[in-house]
Amino acid sequence: MPITDNGSGQEAADERQMKVSIIGTGYVGLVTGVVLADMGNDVLSCDKDADKVAKLRQGIPPIYEPGVEEILKRTLSDGFFKVTDSVAEATKHGDVVFIAVGTPPGPDGTPDLTAVKAVAHEIAKNIDKYTIVVNKSTVPVGSGDMVENIILEQGVPKSLFDVVSNPEFLREGSAIWDTRNPDRIVIGAKNREAAVRLLELYAPLEAPNIITDLNSAELIKYASNSFLALKISFINAVSRVCELCGADVNDVAKGMGTDQRIGKQFLQAGLGWGGSCFPKDVEGLVKVAQNLGYDFEMLKAAQAVNRDQVCHFMDRVERRLGGFQGKTVALLGLAFKPNTDDIRDAKSLDIIETLLKGGATVRAFDPVAMDNVKEVFPHVNYVDHVYETAEGADCLILVTEWNEFKQLDLDRVGKSMKGKILFDGRRCFSKQVAERAGFDYYTIGS
Ligand code: UGA
Repeated sequence: MPITDNGSGQEAADERQMKVSIIGTGYVGLVTGVVLADMGNDVLSCDKDADKVAKLRQGIPPIYEPGVEEILKRTLSDGFFKVTDSVAEATKHGDVVFIAVGTPPGPDGTPDLTAVKAVAHEIAKNIDKYTIVVNKSTVPVGSGDMVENIILEQGVPKSLFDVVSNPEFLREGSAIWDTRNPDRIVIGAKNREAAVRLLELYAPLEAPNIITDLNSAELIKYASNSFLALKISFINAVSRVCELCGADVNDVAKGMGTDQRIGKQFLQAGLGWGGSCFPKDVEGLVKVAQNLGYDFEMLKAAQAVNRDQVCHFMDRVERRLGGFQGKTVALLGLAFKPNTDDIRDAKSLDIIETLLKGGATVRAFDPVAMDNVKEVFPHVNYVDHVYETAEGADCLILVTEWNEFKQLDLDRVGKSMKGKILFDGRRCFSKQVAERAGFDYYTIGS
């Protein structure tokens, strides 16, 4: 059931319903689309990839994200969610048109805005009524003005549209929950009325909101991701000190995090931050600052800690094994984090590269990301079952902390191995349990 009816009846639901178009069906576009459709809005989702469109129409999401398929199927059959490959059709449909296309890092680390610009051009050619154009893609400061200029340059009168920045804060793996339960809604606009109108779309979520100018909204997104990345790099740097002095980083993080000014979240030491957002957005903010004449040294230090974290970990593995040549190393988990098949900037890629270069044979298992890694590293032995991962291996490395790995019978895993060495890159297992199963157990920050 769409969550439209709060007891006030269909009429009220119809009044609330907005015509929304969303261009781009990646994690942000698709999740936003199905959640807004599930709230009773009339959503038209758009992607230029005909294959994706065909799949979406059958209720098959092009990405792995828990919960999306169920809501997609429901909203398709209820008629709240439709799909097109035409930006023209999407522009004509929506009173609110979201741009949620990819902004991958370009060769110098600056986000590549080709897709955003192309969509802005298409929107400009097809606007035939007042439209709020919402930039949801993560874009450098000044991109809202850029989109506005592109539309104006096509001869569209200023009175026919407003450009609004509405950054997204959902995390992969928990994207549906995050979208329904946001900590805040951030809207940046020149025209406050447009911002307030967009806020109506989110009213049922009852989240705190921040209305500001375009540049500030764009910067909020970069600064938020960069601060979280900085927090992780901080605890990872502390983990190095812990290793040197025999302290335990989990206890240190707990002690720090219970101070409400610091907070418990994003203090999990591990192999470092990856994914499609933190690496790109931290680099993006460094570049934005540099272009404006500021050297953001603090963020550069966070990047350096992040690069070093996996190198230091692999040095420890290599030393313990006496070199990688001729050894078999098994990897548990390949995705950049649990509950996703995304491998962009995943630590598993660095680890596999180091192992293969060093002459090791690599075995690997991930619940959903193996096909993606296969395309990059075809010469890894991918296994079908988690308990086959470590068969005959000299060493097992936990790379991604999937929940199902936490429940593994380490006795059974150990019995299938040649050497009982376990390197835990995410502090997923208990040292006591691993040692009871006969493992030499090593982890980060203790
Ligand atoms: C991140 C932000 O958390 C979202 O708010 C934002 O919307 C999103 O980027 C985006 O810009 O689209 P995401 O990249 O999906 O979300 O994943 P996170 O859960 O933030 O994890 C990022 C990386 O940090 C992962 O590699 C994870 O393993 C690592 N991490 C996270 C740690 O090493 N320690 C922690 O305590 C938390």
